[in-house]
Amino acid sequence: MWEWGSLLEGGVLIFFITLLLSYGAAGLKWLRLSPALRKGYRKLPKGSLGWPLVGETLALQHCLMSTAPHSFVNDRRRRYGDLFLTHLFGSPLLASTDPEMNRFILTKEEPLFTASLPKTLSMVVGQNALLMLTGDRHKRMRRLLMSMFSPEVLRHHTDRIQQLAVSVLKSWKGRKVIVADEAREYTYNVALSSIMNVGRKDKAEVFRAKFLELRSGARALPIDLPGTAFRTALQARKCLAQMVEEEINERKRTKEVRYDDLLEKLIEAPEADGGEPLRNEEIVDLILSSMLAGFDTSANTLLFLVYYIGQNPQVLHDLKMEHQEILREKATNEPLTYADYKKMRLSQLTINETMRIANPILSLHRRTLQDVEFDGRTFPANCTVQVWLRSLHTDPNLYPNPYNFDLDRWKGKTPNGNNFIPFGMGPRRCVGIELARMELCFFIHCLVTMYRGWEPAEEDKPRYFPEPGMRKGLPIYVHDP
Ligand code: HEM
Repeated sequence: MWEWGSLLEGGVLIFFITLLLSYGAAGLKWLRLSPALRKGYRKLPKGSLGWPLVGETLALQHCLMSTAPHSFVNDRRRRYGDLFLTHLFGSPLLASTDPEMNRFILTKEEPLFTASLPKTLSMVVGQNALLMLTGDRHKRMRRLLMSMFSPEVLRHHTDRIQQLAVSVLKSWKGRKVIVADEAREYTYNVALSSIMNVGRKDKAEVFRAKFLELRSGARALPIDLPGTAFRTALQARKCLAQMVEEEINERKRTKEVRYDDLLEKLIEAPEADGGEPLRNEEIVDLILSSMLAGFDTSANTLLFLVYYIGQNPQVLHDLKMEHQEILREKATNEPLTYADYKKMRLSQLTINETMRIANPILSLHRRTLQDVEFDGRTFPANCTVQVWLRSLHTDPNLYPNPYNFDLDRWKGKTPNGNNFIPFGMGPRRCVGIELARMELCFFIHCLVTMYRGWEPAEEDKPRYFPEPGMRKGLPIYVHDP
């Protein structure tokens, strides 16, 4: 009797402790949510908020640094479904991994969603960066940028881009090359020449040094203290802004000189679209943010292109055939044209496959402007929503053997628009796609026609944190033709 009584008491105690712990955990979870997510608590998808303060950021970092870089999302998707709650980079958010849901989030801007970047990032990229703008201002600025990076304009820039590729590649002969450094050199030069063609060499060197400080700060922790990368970036920004403003004033004085770059388009915006002239600070932000948007993304893709082509001799062979065929139809030393670019089909597939495996952008962010319903799921108003790109592109249901570099998966097929979105989709789809693809194709052309091939100078491996890259930057030696 006594034994039964104490067993019963013990059971009741355990029941109450369990109740207390689970309600305590739920209560704690509730407290750690943002006010927006608290309001919609009952309808929130499953997920975990991880540890206090850091949330699941360390778990994500751990996965990205492991041999299974996409396991963070894949594990949660298995456990909680294709929309889950998590806590990353300082705030709770909802993460989407479903292609249809991604499309919905990225294509339905106002009144449902809006772009969302951390406030501290706006201090680096500027409040007038395209990714910060919304509504009609976003539409107008986007149109102006698109007019510079459209195929119609880029067709006049082919020989300039080719020259930049040749001048980088010429220096590769007979020395150990760190491809990551060279890729950054090339993509920086291409971006600068299309965005703000700084003529004077001394000015260009200061601009470059300050731009690299800006870019390091954009990726650093936003700690505004003396000596931090973030503070250095803010100081670099002031200097860059002054240089762009000087360039604007000089160009306004010498109207007859043509530059054929984005800065010229922005200064002449009223002539182009009949709208108000842009303020200097708007032009500064658009110039600097476009340079930032197109720099690491293109450089990392180029680095992985050289890596994957080097790993796949058959692909190198087939690319050589494609580009020699293009050369055969041209006179000696005749520059590449837009029509040649359009013939580089295998090169485009190689770029697709490279971006699929080593997508330079991990995820895209939006914020809900009101309660949003999609397929029975609710996104409460004012919550951050994340669309995962890399996990989408390595989903085995969409891409069998996702980590195999396999061009056959693209041949003769049009990619499903929802399943392959390295440049995003909807009203914020990348404005630099055509420039990025053209500079990558032209680099492949010059690389495979100027050299027989290349071999690793040291063993190297991909890494995925803090961004995709190669651990040693991919050291190689090229072979003469
Ligand atoms: C391989 C290279 C590139 C990749 C993978 C890439 C990817 C992307 C993605 C995914 C977005 C959408 C962002 C979002 O929806 O939140 C985007 C937007 C943007 N990209 Fe790119 N990009 C590349 C190259 C470039 C280049 C070369 C430029 C310019 C010279 C550029 C300029 C921009 C700008 C200005 C936006 C903002 C568009 C808007 O908000 O309307 N990108 N890019």
